[in-house]
Amino acid sequence: MSFSIPPLPRSSGINSSGNLEVAGCDVVELAKEFGTPLFIYDEEQIRESCREYRRAFATRTDHFDIVYASKAFSCIALCQLIGQEGLSLDVASGGELHTALKAWFPPENIYLHGNANSYEELERAVRNEVGRIVIDSVDELAALDRIAGEQGRRQRVLLRITPGIEAHTHDFIQTGKLDSKFGFCLADGVAEEAVAAAMAADNLELEGLHSHIGSQIFSLEPFARTIAVMASFAAQCNKQYGFECRLLDVGGGLGVAYTGSDEPAGADELAKTIVNSVRDEFGRAGLPVPRIAVEPGRSIVANAGITAYTIEAVKTIPGVKTYVAVSGGMSDNLRPMLYGAQYEALIASRPKAEPTMTAAVAGKHCESGDIIIRETGLADPRPGEILVTPSTGAYGYSMASNYNGQRRPAVIFVKEKQARVIIRRESYEDLVHLHERLE
Ligand code: LLP
Repeated sequence: MSFSIPPLPRSSGINSSGNLEVAGCDVVELAKEFGTPLFIYDEEQIRESCREYRRAFATRTDHFDIVYASKAFSCIALCQLIGQEGLSLDVASGGELHTALKAWFPPENIYLHGNANSYEELERAVRNEVGRIVIDSVDELAALDRIAGEQGRRQRVLLRITPGIEAHTHDFIQTGKLDSKFGFCLADGVAEEAVAAAMAADNLELEGLHSHIGSQIFSLEPFARTIAVMASFAAQCNKQYGFECRLLDVGGGLGVAYTGSDEPAGADELAKTIVNSVRDEFGRAGLPVPRIAVEPGRSIVANAGITAYTIEAVKTIPGVKTYVAVSGGMSDNLRPMLYGAQYEALIASRPKAEPTMTAAVAGKHCESGDIIIRETGLADPRPGEILVTPSTGAYGYSMASNYNGQRRPAVIFVKEKQARVIIRRESYEDLVHLHERLE
């Protein structure tokens, strides 16, 4: 029987034991086999999301690049999958670059980002022949020019521009407004000077411009406004310096459903807005239409992933509330604590049962704020049972920590009734692996 709460993976269903299954795998059994917390990804759904993005753009233009933002979730297997699906990869640090290279991801299809890349990170990127580096400051520009020169290479670069657009999302994940630590602002000629400097740099090839206005964005209109701003900036630089914007990278940010009441736009609507706006705005500015890059992270992986927890305790404070305490928490999903993000929950062995109570789902960490869900309806939760939170595939594992000595969870891919570990669960020994003794 298929079973759908919107954020659950599409292959979810209820099996003959009455348990939640994903891609034909019983979630209760998976929890038993791999331990909890456990990240479970429907591999086909990630692949299908990649294909949806490609289709959405391919039906509208020949000149595009879908660049998966690996900060949403990165590991060797996922980088391999992204490469197999023909996407490019956004890495935001030497570490994410290392993971990509370990997966033999083609370096020419990698974009390096970051507002504080070290000399070593830039040097490593150039040495590994990373396709594009998105420059965020004049200091980075100068350092990169020097590094590329030292290595006898001409590095392709984009400039990250802060378009001054406010997207309607949480303040912490808004990046395109004027007061931002990211990119070159358009005020007072700062961005223009950066274009001039990049064009003049001996060892850099300025291919185009980049913007990223934020994350978990539901309204597409800010993307259109951003593109208008970028086109007019490109026109201005064309007139002044003869700059040709051959690539316009509009960043990521498409929102996803975390609960049944969220209704985000899809990749197709996003592509329509972006491709039409780029055509219209560059056309109006009298410029050739550039190749378009987008950098989806969350919308590729969020809904394909769920987390399974073991219920460890159920505690009712009479007249106040019931706390359902589970085997993970802020060490595997920091989003509720950081952004007030909302999730839903269900009991894997009774996924369709009507809620019998309202409860808070509490994490196991020594913090009162470690609450995964403040209030949700649950069907008679009991210790030992498996509680599932849907839509945890993005920024869950990637922001995981070892707080309170918690071992980071295993991550598995499920596909056609088979489960495979793509990141093994940390052992207690892993926790002390880097420690040195005093004597
Ligand atoms: N490109 C750039 C330059 C970015 O900074 C980001 C995300 C993306 C692409 C991907 O954005 P997405 O499509 O995933 O929205 N930890 C936060 C999200 C931080 C996003 C940071 N940058 C969260 O859990 O909501």
